[in-house]
Amino acid sequence: LREIKVDDDDFGLMAYDPAYKNTASCRSAITLIDGDKGILRYRGYPIEQLAEHSTFLEVAYLLLWGELPTKSEFDGWVDQITHHTYVHQYLIHGMEGFKWDAHAMGKLVSLLGTLSTFYEDSKNVRDPAVRREHIIKIIAKMPTIAAWCFRHMQGRPYIYPDNGLSYVGNFMNMLFRMAEPKFEPSPAIEKALDVLFILHADHEQNCSASAARAVGSAETDPYCSLAAASAALYGPLHGGANEAVLRMLREIGSLGNIPGFIEGVKNRERRLMGFGHRVYKNYDPRARIIKQLAHDVFAETGKNPLLDIALELEKIALDDEFFVERRLYPNVDFYSGLIYQSIGFPVEFFPVLFAIPRAAGWLAQWQEMLMDPEQKIARPRQVYIGEGERAYVPMDKR
Ligand code: ACO
Repeated sequence: LREIKVDDDDFGLMAYDPAYKNTASCRSAITLIDGDKGILRYRGYPIEQLAEHSTFLEVAYLLLWGELPTKSEFDGWVDQITHHTYVHQYLIHGMEGFKWDAHAMGKLVSLLGTLSTFYEDSKNVRDPAVRREHIIKIIAKMPTIAAWCFRHMQGRPYIYPDNGLSYVGNFMNMLFRMAEPKFEPSPAIEKALDVLFILHADHEQNCSASAARAVGSAETDPYCSLAAASAALYGPLHGGANEAVLRMLREIGSLGNIPGFIEGVKNRERRLMGFGHRVYKNYDPRARIIKQLAHDVFAETGKNPLLDIALELEKIALDDEFFVERRLYPNVDFYSGLIYQSIGFPVEFFPVLFAIPRAAGWLAQWQEMLMDPEQKIARPRQVYIGEGERAYVPMDKR
């Protein structure tokens, strides 16, 4: 940059790319998205194959360590995760400080930050063994913290982890168990939640992963880096979108109200939530899998009455010039909320269900950033458009 500076007042050559629409912030070997073709792959494996054959913990291993595990690697991985599911009892005091109606995602953001204070050694982020230890701890503890946020929201006693259960089975037990015996989810619902976890595990340089990388680039510990990522996910244009979809479907209320609603969207009074994506300009492959999954879940729970409104909205939008021209298709959030609601989750909890599996992706991105010798502390430039130099004016002269 200095070489092409013509004089001291010239800042030289600089890329101005608001919202990084066309700027790669890193080189990454984790996730590939081809938005035009509607392709998503983790470490080269198509999302459709992983959703059909894999499990969330296997996918987490793949994202973090680059290859599918052998049987013994996988058993060791599951064993380590399973033995770190408990959280420090003092974390409950943090939970008790929240108002009864505090948003679950706000609690998750705060508690992840709080957890960093329990693990001073996690600040040694340049040590691969330390990184691995805390990656395992975070993946293990996310469901426990999330489930406790849920129980707090409902004013019910916390349920401790049961390490004899699967990752998702244990999570569901901590969420829904009322009394002895332990809660036993139907295999179809346990499987559906596991597949949803796979689909949400990573999505390359989205807003929250970029937040994890940017904060982590200051060598901040992984708990605070993930608190930052969770805060980004909290936003309605990112992880809050499936919550917004459900509210929107409820507000539309009946098939007869859809045309009026669509007119409002086209007049830019509001957005069709769960539609559109910065990268996908084709059908989001995750949405296609989730749409099918919805039918499997509804076979167990009974059909969600909002499904018909969602299907009709999709049908109308995919046929309408406004949406076709702008290449707006359903994204991952359009159908996921319907499934979550049918399983028994309140809308406020949806972003938390996104954050649990995405922790694997955030950690993979965070680790890759730390291992990349080309990465330094994230520090974008700006194009200054403010006043030139001027003299201070005393208050009585303004
Ligand atoms: N409804 C109506 N119009 C839309 C929508 C939508 N959901 N999304 C984009 N558009 C329109 C915009 O008005 C704009 O039209 P214009 O060019 O005539 O002004 C055009 O499409 C491009 O939109 P941008 O906002 O520039 O697209 P961007 O890539 O910045 O936004 C985003 C992507 C935020 C996802 C957007 O599509 C949106 O708001 N969708 C609804 C929220 C949502 O579903 N978010 C979840 C995303 S997936 C995830 O985070 C997991």
